[in-house]
Amino acid sequence: MADSTDAAHEDPAAGAPADLPSVDAPTADVPPVTPVEGADLGRRRFFRQFAGELFQGAATVVGAAQVLQRASVEAAGSILDPESLAGRVAAEANGAPTLLPAPTGFRTPFREDGGFLYIVDQRRLPDSLEEFQAGSASQASYAIREMIVRGAPAIGQVAAIGLALTGAKSITTRPYARRATLRGAANALRNARPTAVNLRWAVDRVMAAYEAVGDLSEDGQAIADAMRAEADAIVFEATEDHGRLAQFGLDELTFPEDRPLQLLTHCNAGPLACGQYGTALGVVQAAHHAERPIHVWVDETRPYLQGARLTTWELAQAGVPHTLIPDVAAGHLMALGEVDVIVVGADRVAANGDTANKIGTYTLAVLAARHGIPFYIAAPLSSVDVATPDGSAIPIEERSATEVLVIRGQRIAPLDTDVRNPAFDVTPAELITGIITDEGVVRAPYVVGLADAVSRRERRRAEVPGFGTWTTHAPVAEMPEAAAAQAELAASAEPAASAEPAEVAT
Ligand code: MRU
Repeated sequence: MADSTDAAHEDPAAGAPADLPSVDAPTADVPPVTPVEGADLGRRRFFRQFAGELFQGAATVVGAAQVLQRASVEAAGSILDPESLAGRVAAEANGAPTLLPAPTGFRTPFREDGGFLYIVDQRRLPDSLEEFQAGSASQASYAIREMIVRGAPAIGQVAAIGLALTGAKSITTRPYARRATLRGAANALRNARPTAVNLRWAVDRVMAAYEAVGDLSEDGQAIADAMRAEADAIVFEATEDHGRLAQFGLDELTFPEDRPLQLLTHCNAGPLACGQYGTALGVVQAAHHAERPIHVWVDETRPYLQGARLTTWELAQAGVPHTLIPDVAAGHLMALGEVDVIVVGADRVAANGDTANKIGTYTLAVLAARHGIPFYIAAPLSSVDVATPDGSAIPIEERSATEVLVIRGQRIAPLDTDVRNPAFDVTPAELITGIITDEGVVRAPYVVGLADAVSRRERRRAEVPGFGTWTTHAPVAEMPEAAAAQAELAASAEPAASAEPAEVAT
């Protein structure tokens, strides 16, 4: 596992963070964080009002992103809540206001308005609900590096939109200067955090859209439009894919007859980390929506406390029963038979299925194997990087010592204590029961299963007119390992044990 980036950053566990950008951020370019009016009111009431505003914004501010986001919610809603969607569409036809509440009471990590990206400042949750305003790629880089927004899919989407905003700002810039600006901005985004593959592929996609117009083209408007369209496609696809993933995950879970399913999760893989729908928490969203009794054990997730601060906040918003536990209590609860299944997210899944996720995930996988508990990774195929052969090649971010030494402003160890703070670890494929994706549940052998699923997604995407085809790798046929394994499997004439795509309710 490759170590990278020792970042001295603000630390939410250190209590209300000082409003100072980190040492390497260009202070002039960092707008203040603005508290959202009424943040301390009953969060559920506030959340619903905000969701309404989000879609009202979509109606008034004619931005492709809002319209697409609405379309994506409809797409996701048709998967998870056909009746209520039908009800709303019918009401709309009879003149009802066009407000679509966000599904299942969760909230998206960002919204766009008037050429700005407003990002929920996740460092301040759950104490206060505030937004960071970003108007450019470098402000988006700052938000990602400082973990104002975090979670693999969300940082990919924020990077794409940040780059599109800088593209829009350089419509009248001379071609060479624009190229230098965009390439510089793209590199800053790619290097903001190393482990989550979504960040790099989102930036690569938007830059490819720019280069498709011509990196020295005089037509700045065409370039800005192409970058905007690709960023919107990434947001739209994430919502649709996560909605599909949630449905496949719901179908995969076995619910006891006489009691709630006891699901344990680690870190935060909810909408705050993903967009409209979570991944691991997307499966919980789907179960909750389908009124399947479920109780969630929430690992606090030291040192950054994404579980304690964000997952509990999201589950409380939606009224999903949950209990917070110290990370170190998970093994004990498994031994007591109080955990039925573990579902976590992913920052990068390698071609062989080895998966990088929040530090502590590997420990859970080993414990789950010890206790015979199914261990699932919930990951959209946009987090699968088949160009990375196995876990040893995944770069692992190392973060600041302060994150470990200080909790809520309270130092917990002598300041000069040596600290190692790897932010992620790798769970080997053999410890993973299945990878829940937007193309079904993939099982071992992962080299074949993941390659198959990626091809099926490429075909599905190719059928959607107007959206860029993305890929983080050459088509499977050009991937010697996957092609060889595929041929071997075909030769063994055993039916592909990869993914059994279930019918998606439409
Ligand atoms: O350091 P973070 O908070 O960005 O780490 C996030 C995780 O590890 C999530 O589990 C992962 O990104 C999946 S989010 C769908």
